[in-house]
Amino acid sequence: MGHQGKTAKLKTFFMLFIVQLFLVIILFLLYNHVNHSASSNEFSYTNIHQEQASHTKIILVWTWPFGTKFPLNKCPSYTDISGCFYTANRTLYSSADAIVMHHRNVMYSRKQLPQIARPPNQYWIWFNLEPPSYSSNLHFMDNLINLTMSYRADSDIFSPYGWLEPNQREENFTIPPKTKLVAWAISKWKPHSNRVRYYKKLKKFLPVDIYGRQHLSLPRKEYEKILSKYKFYLAFENSIHEDYITEKLWKNALKSGCVPVVLGPSRENYERFIPKDSFLHVDDFSTPEELAKYILKLDNDEKAYQQYFTWRSRLHPFADTNWQTHYCRVCKALKEAPAHKTISKLGAWYK
Ligand SMILES: *[C@@H]1O[C@H](CO)[C@@H](O)[C@H](O)[C@H]1NC(C)=O
Ligand SMILES: *[C@@H]1O[C@H](CO)[C@@H](O)[C@H](O)[C@H]1NC(C)=O
Ligand SMILES: *[C@@H]1O[C@H](CO)[C@@H](O)[C@H](O)[C@H]1NC(C)=O
Repeated sequence: MGHQGKTAKLKTFFMLFIVQLFLVIILFLLYNHVNHSASSNEFSYTNIHQEQASHTKIILVWTWPFGTKFPLNKCPSYTDISGCFYTANRTLYSSADAIVMHHRNVMYSRKQLPQIARPPNQYWIWFNLEPPSYSSNLHFMDNLINLTMSYRADSDIFSPYGWLEPNQREENFTIPPKTKLVAWAISKWKPHSNRVRYYKKLKKFLPVDIYGRQHLSLPRKEYEKILSKYKFYLAFENSIHEDYITEKLWKNALKSGCVPVVLGPSRENYERFIPKDSFLHVDDFSTPEELAKYILKLDNDEKAYQQYFTWRSRLHPFADTNWQTHYCRVCKALKEAPAHKTISKLGAWYK
């Protein structure tokens, strides 16, 4: 082997050494990073105990709603979570100031409720966004819960699917360009339900595009883009209960810039939340045929159609709710809660 071959070999060796050194350094940095995260977790746990002494309210998320996890202690600015600490760690049960129970996760068996004695002064908060017809065993909750949180406006913690907010200044709302007439997205198609029966009569007089399982596809990310092309959206609720007005109105219709045609609680009930000139109610018409005629009339009268958007100069819909936004309301409510309250018969109210 010549002198040159030896140098080349040495060079390769040196390069390999550098690469290995590099890898070791990277691994070392990674290890340190992981370790650091772990110790910052520990830190936050010790923090709980310190804060507890200074009266931090511990809010225990008893079950993740429908098993869906979401970030805790990260809340929108319109909620106030100062002085509260949210956790889903059940080992903190005994020191929790409140536990939040999502009804659908505990409704099939009492065994899903805490099995150890309730600490004195702990609030049990009942959370449900499903209507009474989809909420079994409400009696499990009798004489057990202290506060309610739901879409019902008279809940202790009112947590709706959406709401209207005032515009910062008066605005000229631009109606999205329309190329289609009526859309309806439906996930639970029950042939004998009110809404499907109504639709079957309506479609004899009016074309309706149906989205959902076994129908036209409506990817989550394209809701607004697809629906905004329609002049009207059928915001038909799956069951009729006071204040039960869901994302079908707030997100599918209003956020997309469609005029909602609603089937749900009374017109009066809707008018508690949205302006009377922002929607059509099936009860405004004696028959589905009359509703169809009116929609076709508006389709040919641009001025009259635009009237359904005048309220937009003052208000805009807010519907970007997720599990956090609901749970985040608990802190403030807890700080303002009555010193003592028990709900004796939940089913007498939630119906
Ligand atoms: C729950 O909290 C306990 C006590 O603070 C802690 O030891 C445990 O690791 C936590 N569990 C989880 C899953 O974070
Ligand atoms: C809205 O439109 C009207 C009439 O076209 C106009 O006079 C007014 O200045 C506009 N307002 C804003 C905030 O753009
Ligand atoms: C909550 O309700 C339970 C069950 O009725 C009751 O024992 C407890 O005192 C109530 N707690 C508060 C803080 O109101």
